Amino acid sequence: MRTKRFAIPLALAFSFFAAMLLPAQTAGPAVLTIHPDQTASKVSPTLYGLMTEEINHSYDGGLYAELIRNGTFRADWSGVNDWILVEDGASSAKISLDRHTGPSQALPHSLRIDVTQATASSPAGVLNGGYWGIPLRPNITYQGSFYAKEDSGDTGPVTASLVADQSGKVLASAVVSGIGTDWKQYKFALKTAAIAPSLQNHLVLTVAHPGSLWLNLVSLFPPTYHDRANGNRIDLMEKLAAMHPQFLRFPGGNYLEGDHLADWYDWKKTIGPRVDRPGHPSPWRYWSTDGLGLLEFFEWCEDLHMQPVLAVYAGYSLMHEHIDPGPALDPYVQSGLEEIEYATGGSDTKWGAQRAADGHPQPFHITYVEIGNEDWFDTSGSYDARYAQFYKAIKAKYPDLQLIATAPIKSMTPDVLDEHYYLRATDFFHDATHYDKTDRNGPKIFVGEWATREGTPTPNMGAALGDAAWMTGLERNSDIIVMASYAPLLVNISPNAMQWDTDLIGYDALRSYGSPSYYAQVMFGSYVGDQTPASSVEGAGPRFFYSVTEDSAKKRFYVKLVNATSDPQAVDINLPGASLAPEGKLITLTGHNPEATNTIDQPTAVVPVESGLHGVSSSLHHRVPAYTIEVMELDVR
Ligand code: AHR
Repeated sequence: MRTKRFAIPLALAFSFFAAMLLPAQTAGPAVLTIHPDQTASKVSPTLYGLMTEEINHSYDGGLYAELIRNGTFRADWSGVNDWILVEDGASSAKISLDRHTGPSQALPHSLRIDVTQATASSPAGVLNGGYWGIPLRPNITYQGSFYAKEDSGDTGPVTASLVADQSGKVLASAVVSGIGTDWKQYKFALKTAAIAPSLQNHLVLTVAHPGSLWLNLVSLFPPTYHDRANGNRIDLMEKLAAMHPQFLRFPGGNYLEGDHLADWYDWKKTIGPRVDRPGHPSPWRYWSTDGLGLLEFFEWCEDLHMQPVLAVYAGYSLMHEHIDPGPALDPYVQSGLEEIEYATGGSDTKWGAQRAADGHPQPFHITYVEIGNEDWFDTSGSYDARYAQFYKAIKAKYPDLQLIATAPIKSMTPDVLDEHYYLRATDFFHDATHYDKTDRNGPKIFVGEWATREGTPTPNMGAALGDAAWMTGLERNSDIIVMASYAPLLVNISPNAMQWDTDLIGYDALRSYGSPSYYAQVMFGSYVGDQTPASSVEGAGPRFFYSVTEDSAKKRFYVKLVNATSDPQAVDINLPGASLAPEGKLITLTGHNPEATNTIDQPTAVVPVESGLHGVSSSLHHRVPAYTIEVMELDVR
């Protein structure tokens, strides 16, 4: 009896220790057969791209490089936001919002600073802490500006200083003199010395004499990507460039629609000098400055060689408000036509001339225009007719444009249908074959938003595996899937900056990092061919996914392997009849478990590692580690 009682636990203990000592069991081997001479389908040249909108401080406090928060002095019940009165020594001053004077119609108010006492050694003024800090680096020149006026002309000059929060040390300083009694823009430059990089800094603007000073549109820029004026953050643009995106879908997303009809993305208010841009409320609960406006979206496309996928507002806003199709919708259709002309028209057209006046004489090229966003939420059933109204007007003027519908249309077949998926990894594992049986005679598909939502603020390795499984299906079905874009793209991880969990790239004011899902995107976007050869797999364990594409010009195969289990997966890869170069390339992204991830402090815990494949022939024995995404690059001799 005693013996029997111990027999089972001992056997269990033995197998447990054996499992600890022996290498993990592989499931399989699977046999993956690729027929190099049989093309199964085409891969869209625009398959992988970016989707973007103002969410999680993607632009203000994100990609848009402006460092000053609320430079236009918006106020609420608590006073002017983000600005603090400075009264050094015995100086004395007060600040208030002046609703009666401002530098432009778009910015009709200003910050009024009434200084009753100030001297050079005890100045008074205001300070701004930026978007969760002002990031400063050594030996960099920061370009500043503000609009100002004084009551008497002798309150200034204004001293602009960058000051370290903790030490109070002045890290850079400039004097702006000659402030007049009428509104005018003043510029200054602030150069740091050999300081340590830090985000714990603020900007101080002070005067040394009593009097009244009015300010608006205070701005400070670091160097930007491609040195664009009013441009973008370099580190984030570099991360986006590494994804090799083929298109940019903008400006949303919910951001296109706004909560209410009055909050729609009225693009005309986002172009021209910044002083003429009023900004607008975004549905993601914070004010959008529109410093990154319509032209800047197109310039972003230009910088990263992406096709613009322009979404035009189609008369539906998020709180289930819509414009009836017919005459009431006409002004919005007209706005959409003018928006397309602003982007693509020559300087001899009204809106093309406006774009030239705004600094970009060369027209942009557009293939796709999206009509609205997620109009399946419009339960009134008006989208069919709204889409048709836009379709008729746009095709009449721009017959070559492909028009994307955001919900199924019963009255006609749209050129392209935008479908969105926000799922857990397990759902994507089960749905990786989603498009395998889709009717090839229907509309083309744009998977305009999708993501595995696991991990916060950015996705973890488990999410990356769900993403990769899904992307194998996108590649296999890219004869109908013309484009696909992960969303959301960006998140500022500072306190209360995020509205949506699980975003591809995280950052604070100073640093940024890519999530495991980001690296999955980099791998899939960097290694994709123009067609898929016929292929099949047998004997694979659970949650094993693959895709094979071929770059026909380079005579190169990309084999993507996804093992989303805790066991390695052995695979025999056969390419009957192929004569492959003996050396290949292998890129591996692996995590010890699905929770493995990157953070702002550990940005490279899960990153792709490149190695060589040796002795490649028409067959290859390989082992995909647990929780791993791999790409093989195999050249035909
Ligand atoms: O990506 C976040 C939001 O999800 C988008 O704004 C909207 O289109 C979707 O519902």
